[in-house]
Amino acid sequence: MVAPRVLAHLLLAGSLLVSACRMGRMTVPEGAEKPWDDMDRGERAAFMAQIVLPRMREVFQAFDPERFADFDCTTCHGKDAKARGFAMPSPDLPVLDPRGIYRKHRKDPAQHAIADFMWKEVQPEMGRLLGVTYGPKGRIDCATCHPHDPAPR
Ligand code: HEC
Ligand code: HEC
Repeated sequence: MVAPRVLAHLLLAGSLLVSACRMGRMTVPEGAEKPWDDMDRGERAAFMAQIVLPRMREVFQAFDPERFADFDCTTCHGKDAKARGFAMPSPDLPVLDPRGIYRKHRKDPAQHAIADFMWKEVQPEMGRLLGVTYGPKGRIDCATCHPHDPAPR
């Protein structure tokens, strides 16, 4: 018998490995007229406001309504988002340690569930919404949003 908690760790590690390649493809995202890469800054900001923010708010609030009760542009982009031109990664997001496929975060009982959520829901949904690839070597991965220490390979 494997304890449920151990099993959960194994499943997460497994899903991390299985998804250790690029997923998705480049498309014109739903609700847009051109690919994300071809949008100018104003078009990107408008697309974020109309499509990305409402959808990602739903996703985050379904995971943890209390923690993400206030969910807006700054949740992802940080408090000085505007002054920084909405550049990602955001210096205000938790710094991640990517070693051992994010072992530190997967093994931390306080972070295990949210790390799993990031992998299975946030990263893929963000990629799909923008019509870009996601996962390691994809356009959207953990390092798109989070600062890393040490730097990812
Ligand atoms: C769920 C997280 C999330 C939320 C919420 C969010 N964004 Fe973004 N945003 C991103 C990511 C990730 C990128 C970078 C995508 C890429 O790699 O091209 C981005 C990129 C951008 C860009 C393009 C920046 C550049 O350098 O070209 C702008 C502008 C932007 N966001 C504005 C906004 C605005 C305005 C809001 C609120 C209405 C918002 N974002 C909400 C995640 C988010
Ligand atoms: C679209 C942007 C985005 C992507 C991609 C993303 N995250 Fe996150 N992550 C966030 C946001 C937003 C939070 C919540 C920060 C807060 O509480 O204000 C967060 C929180 C976390 C936390 C919680 C840390 C803590 O101290 O509580 C962990 C762990 C985490 N992310 C890991 C990951 C991993 C691993 C990946 C890649 C599989 C990833 N994230 C991809 C935006 C992102």
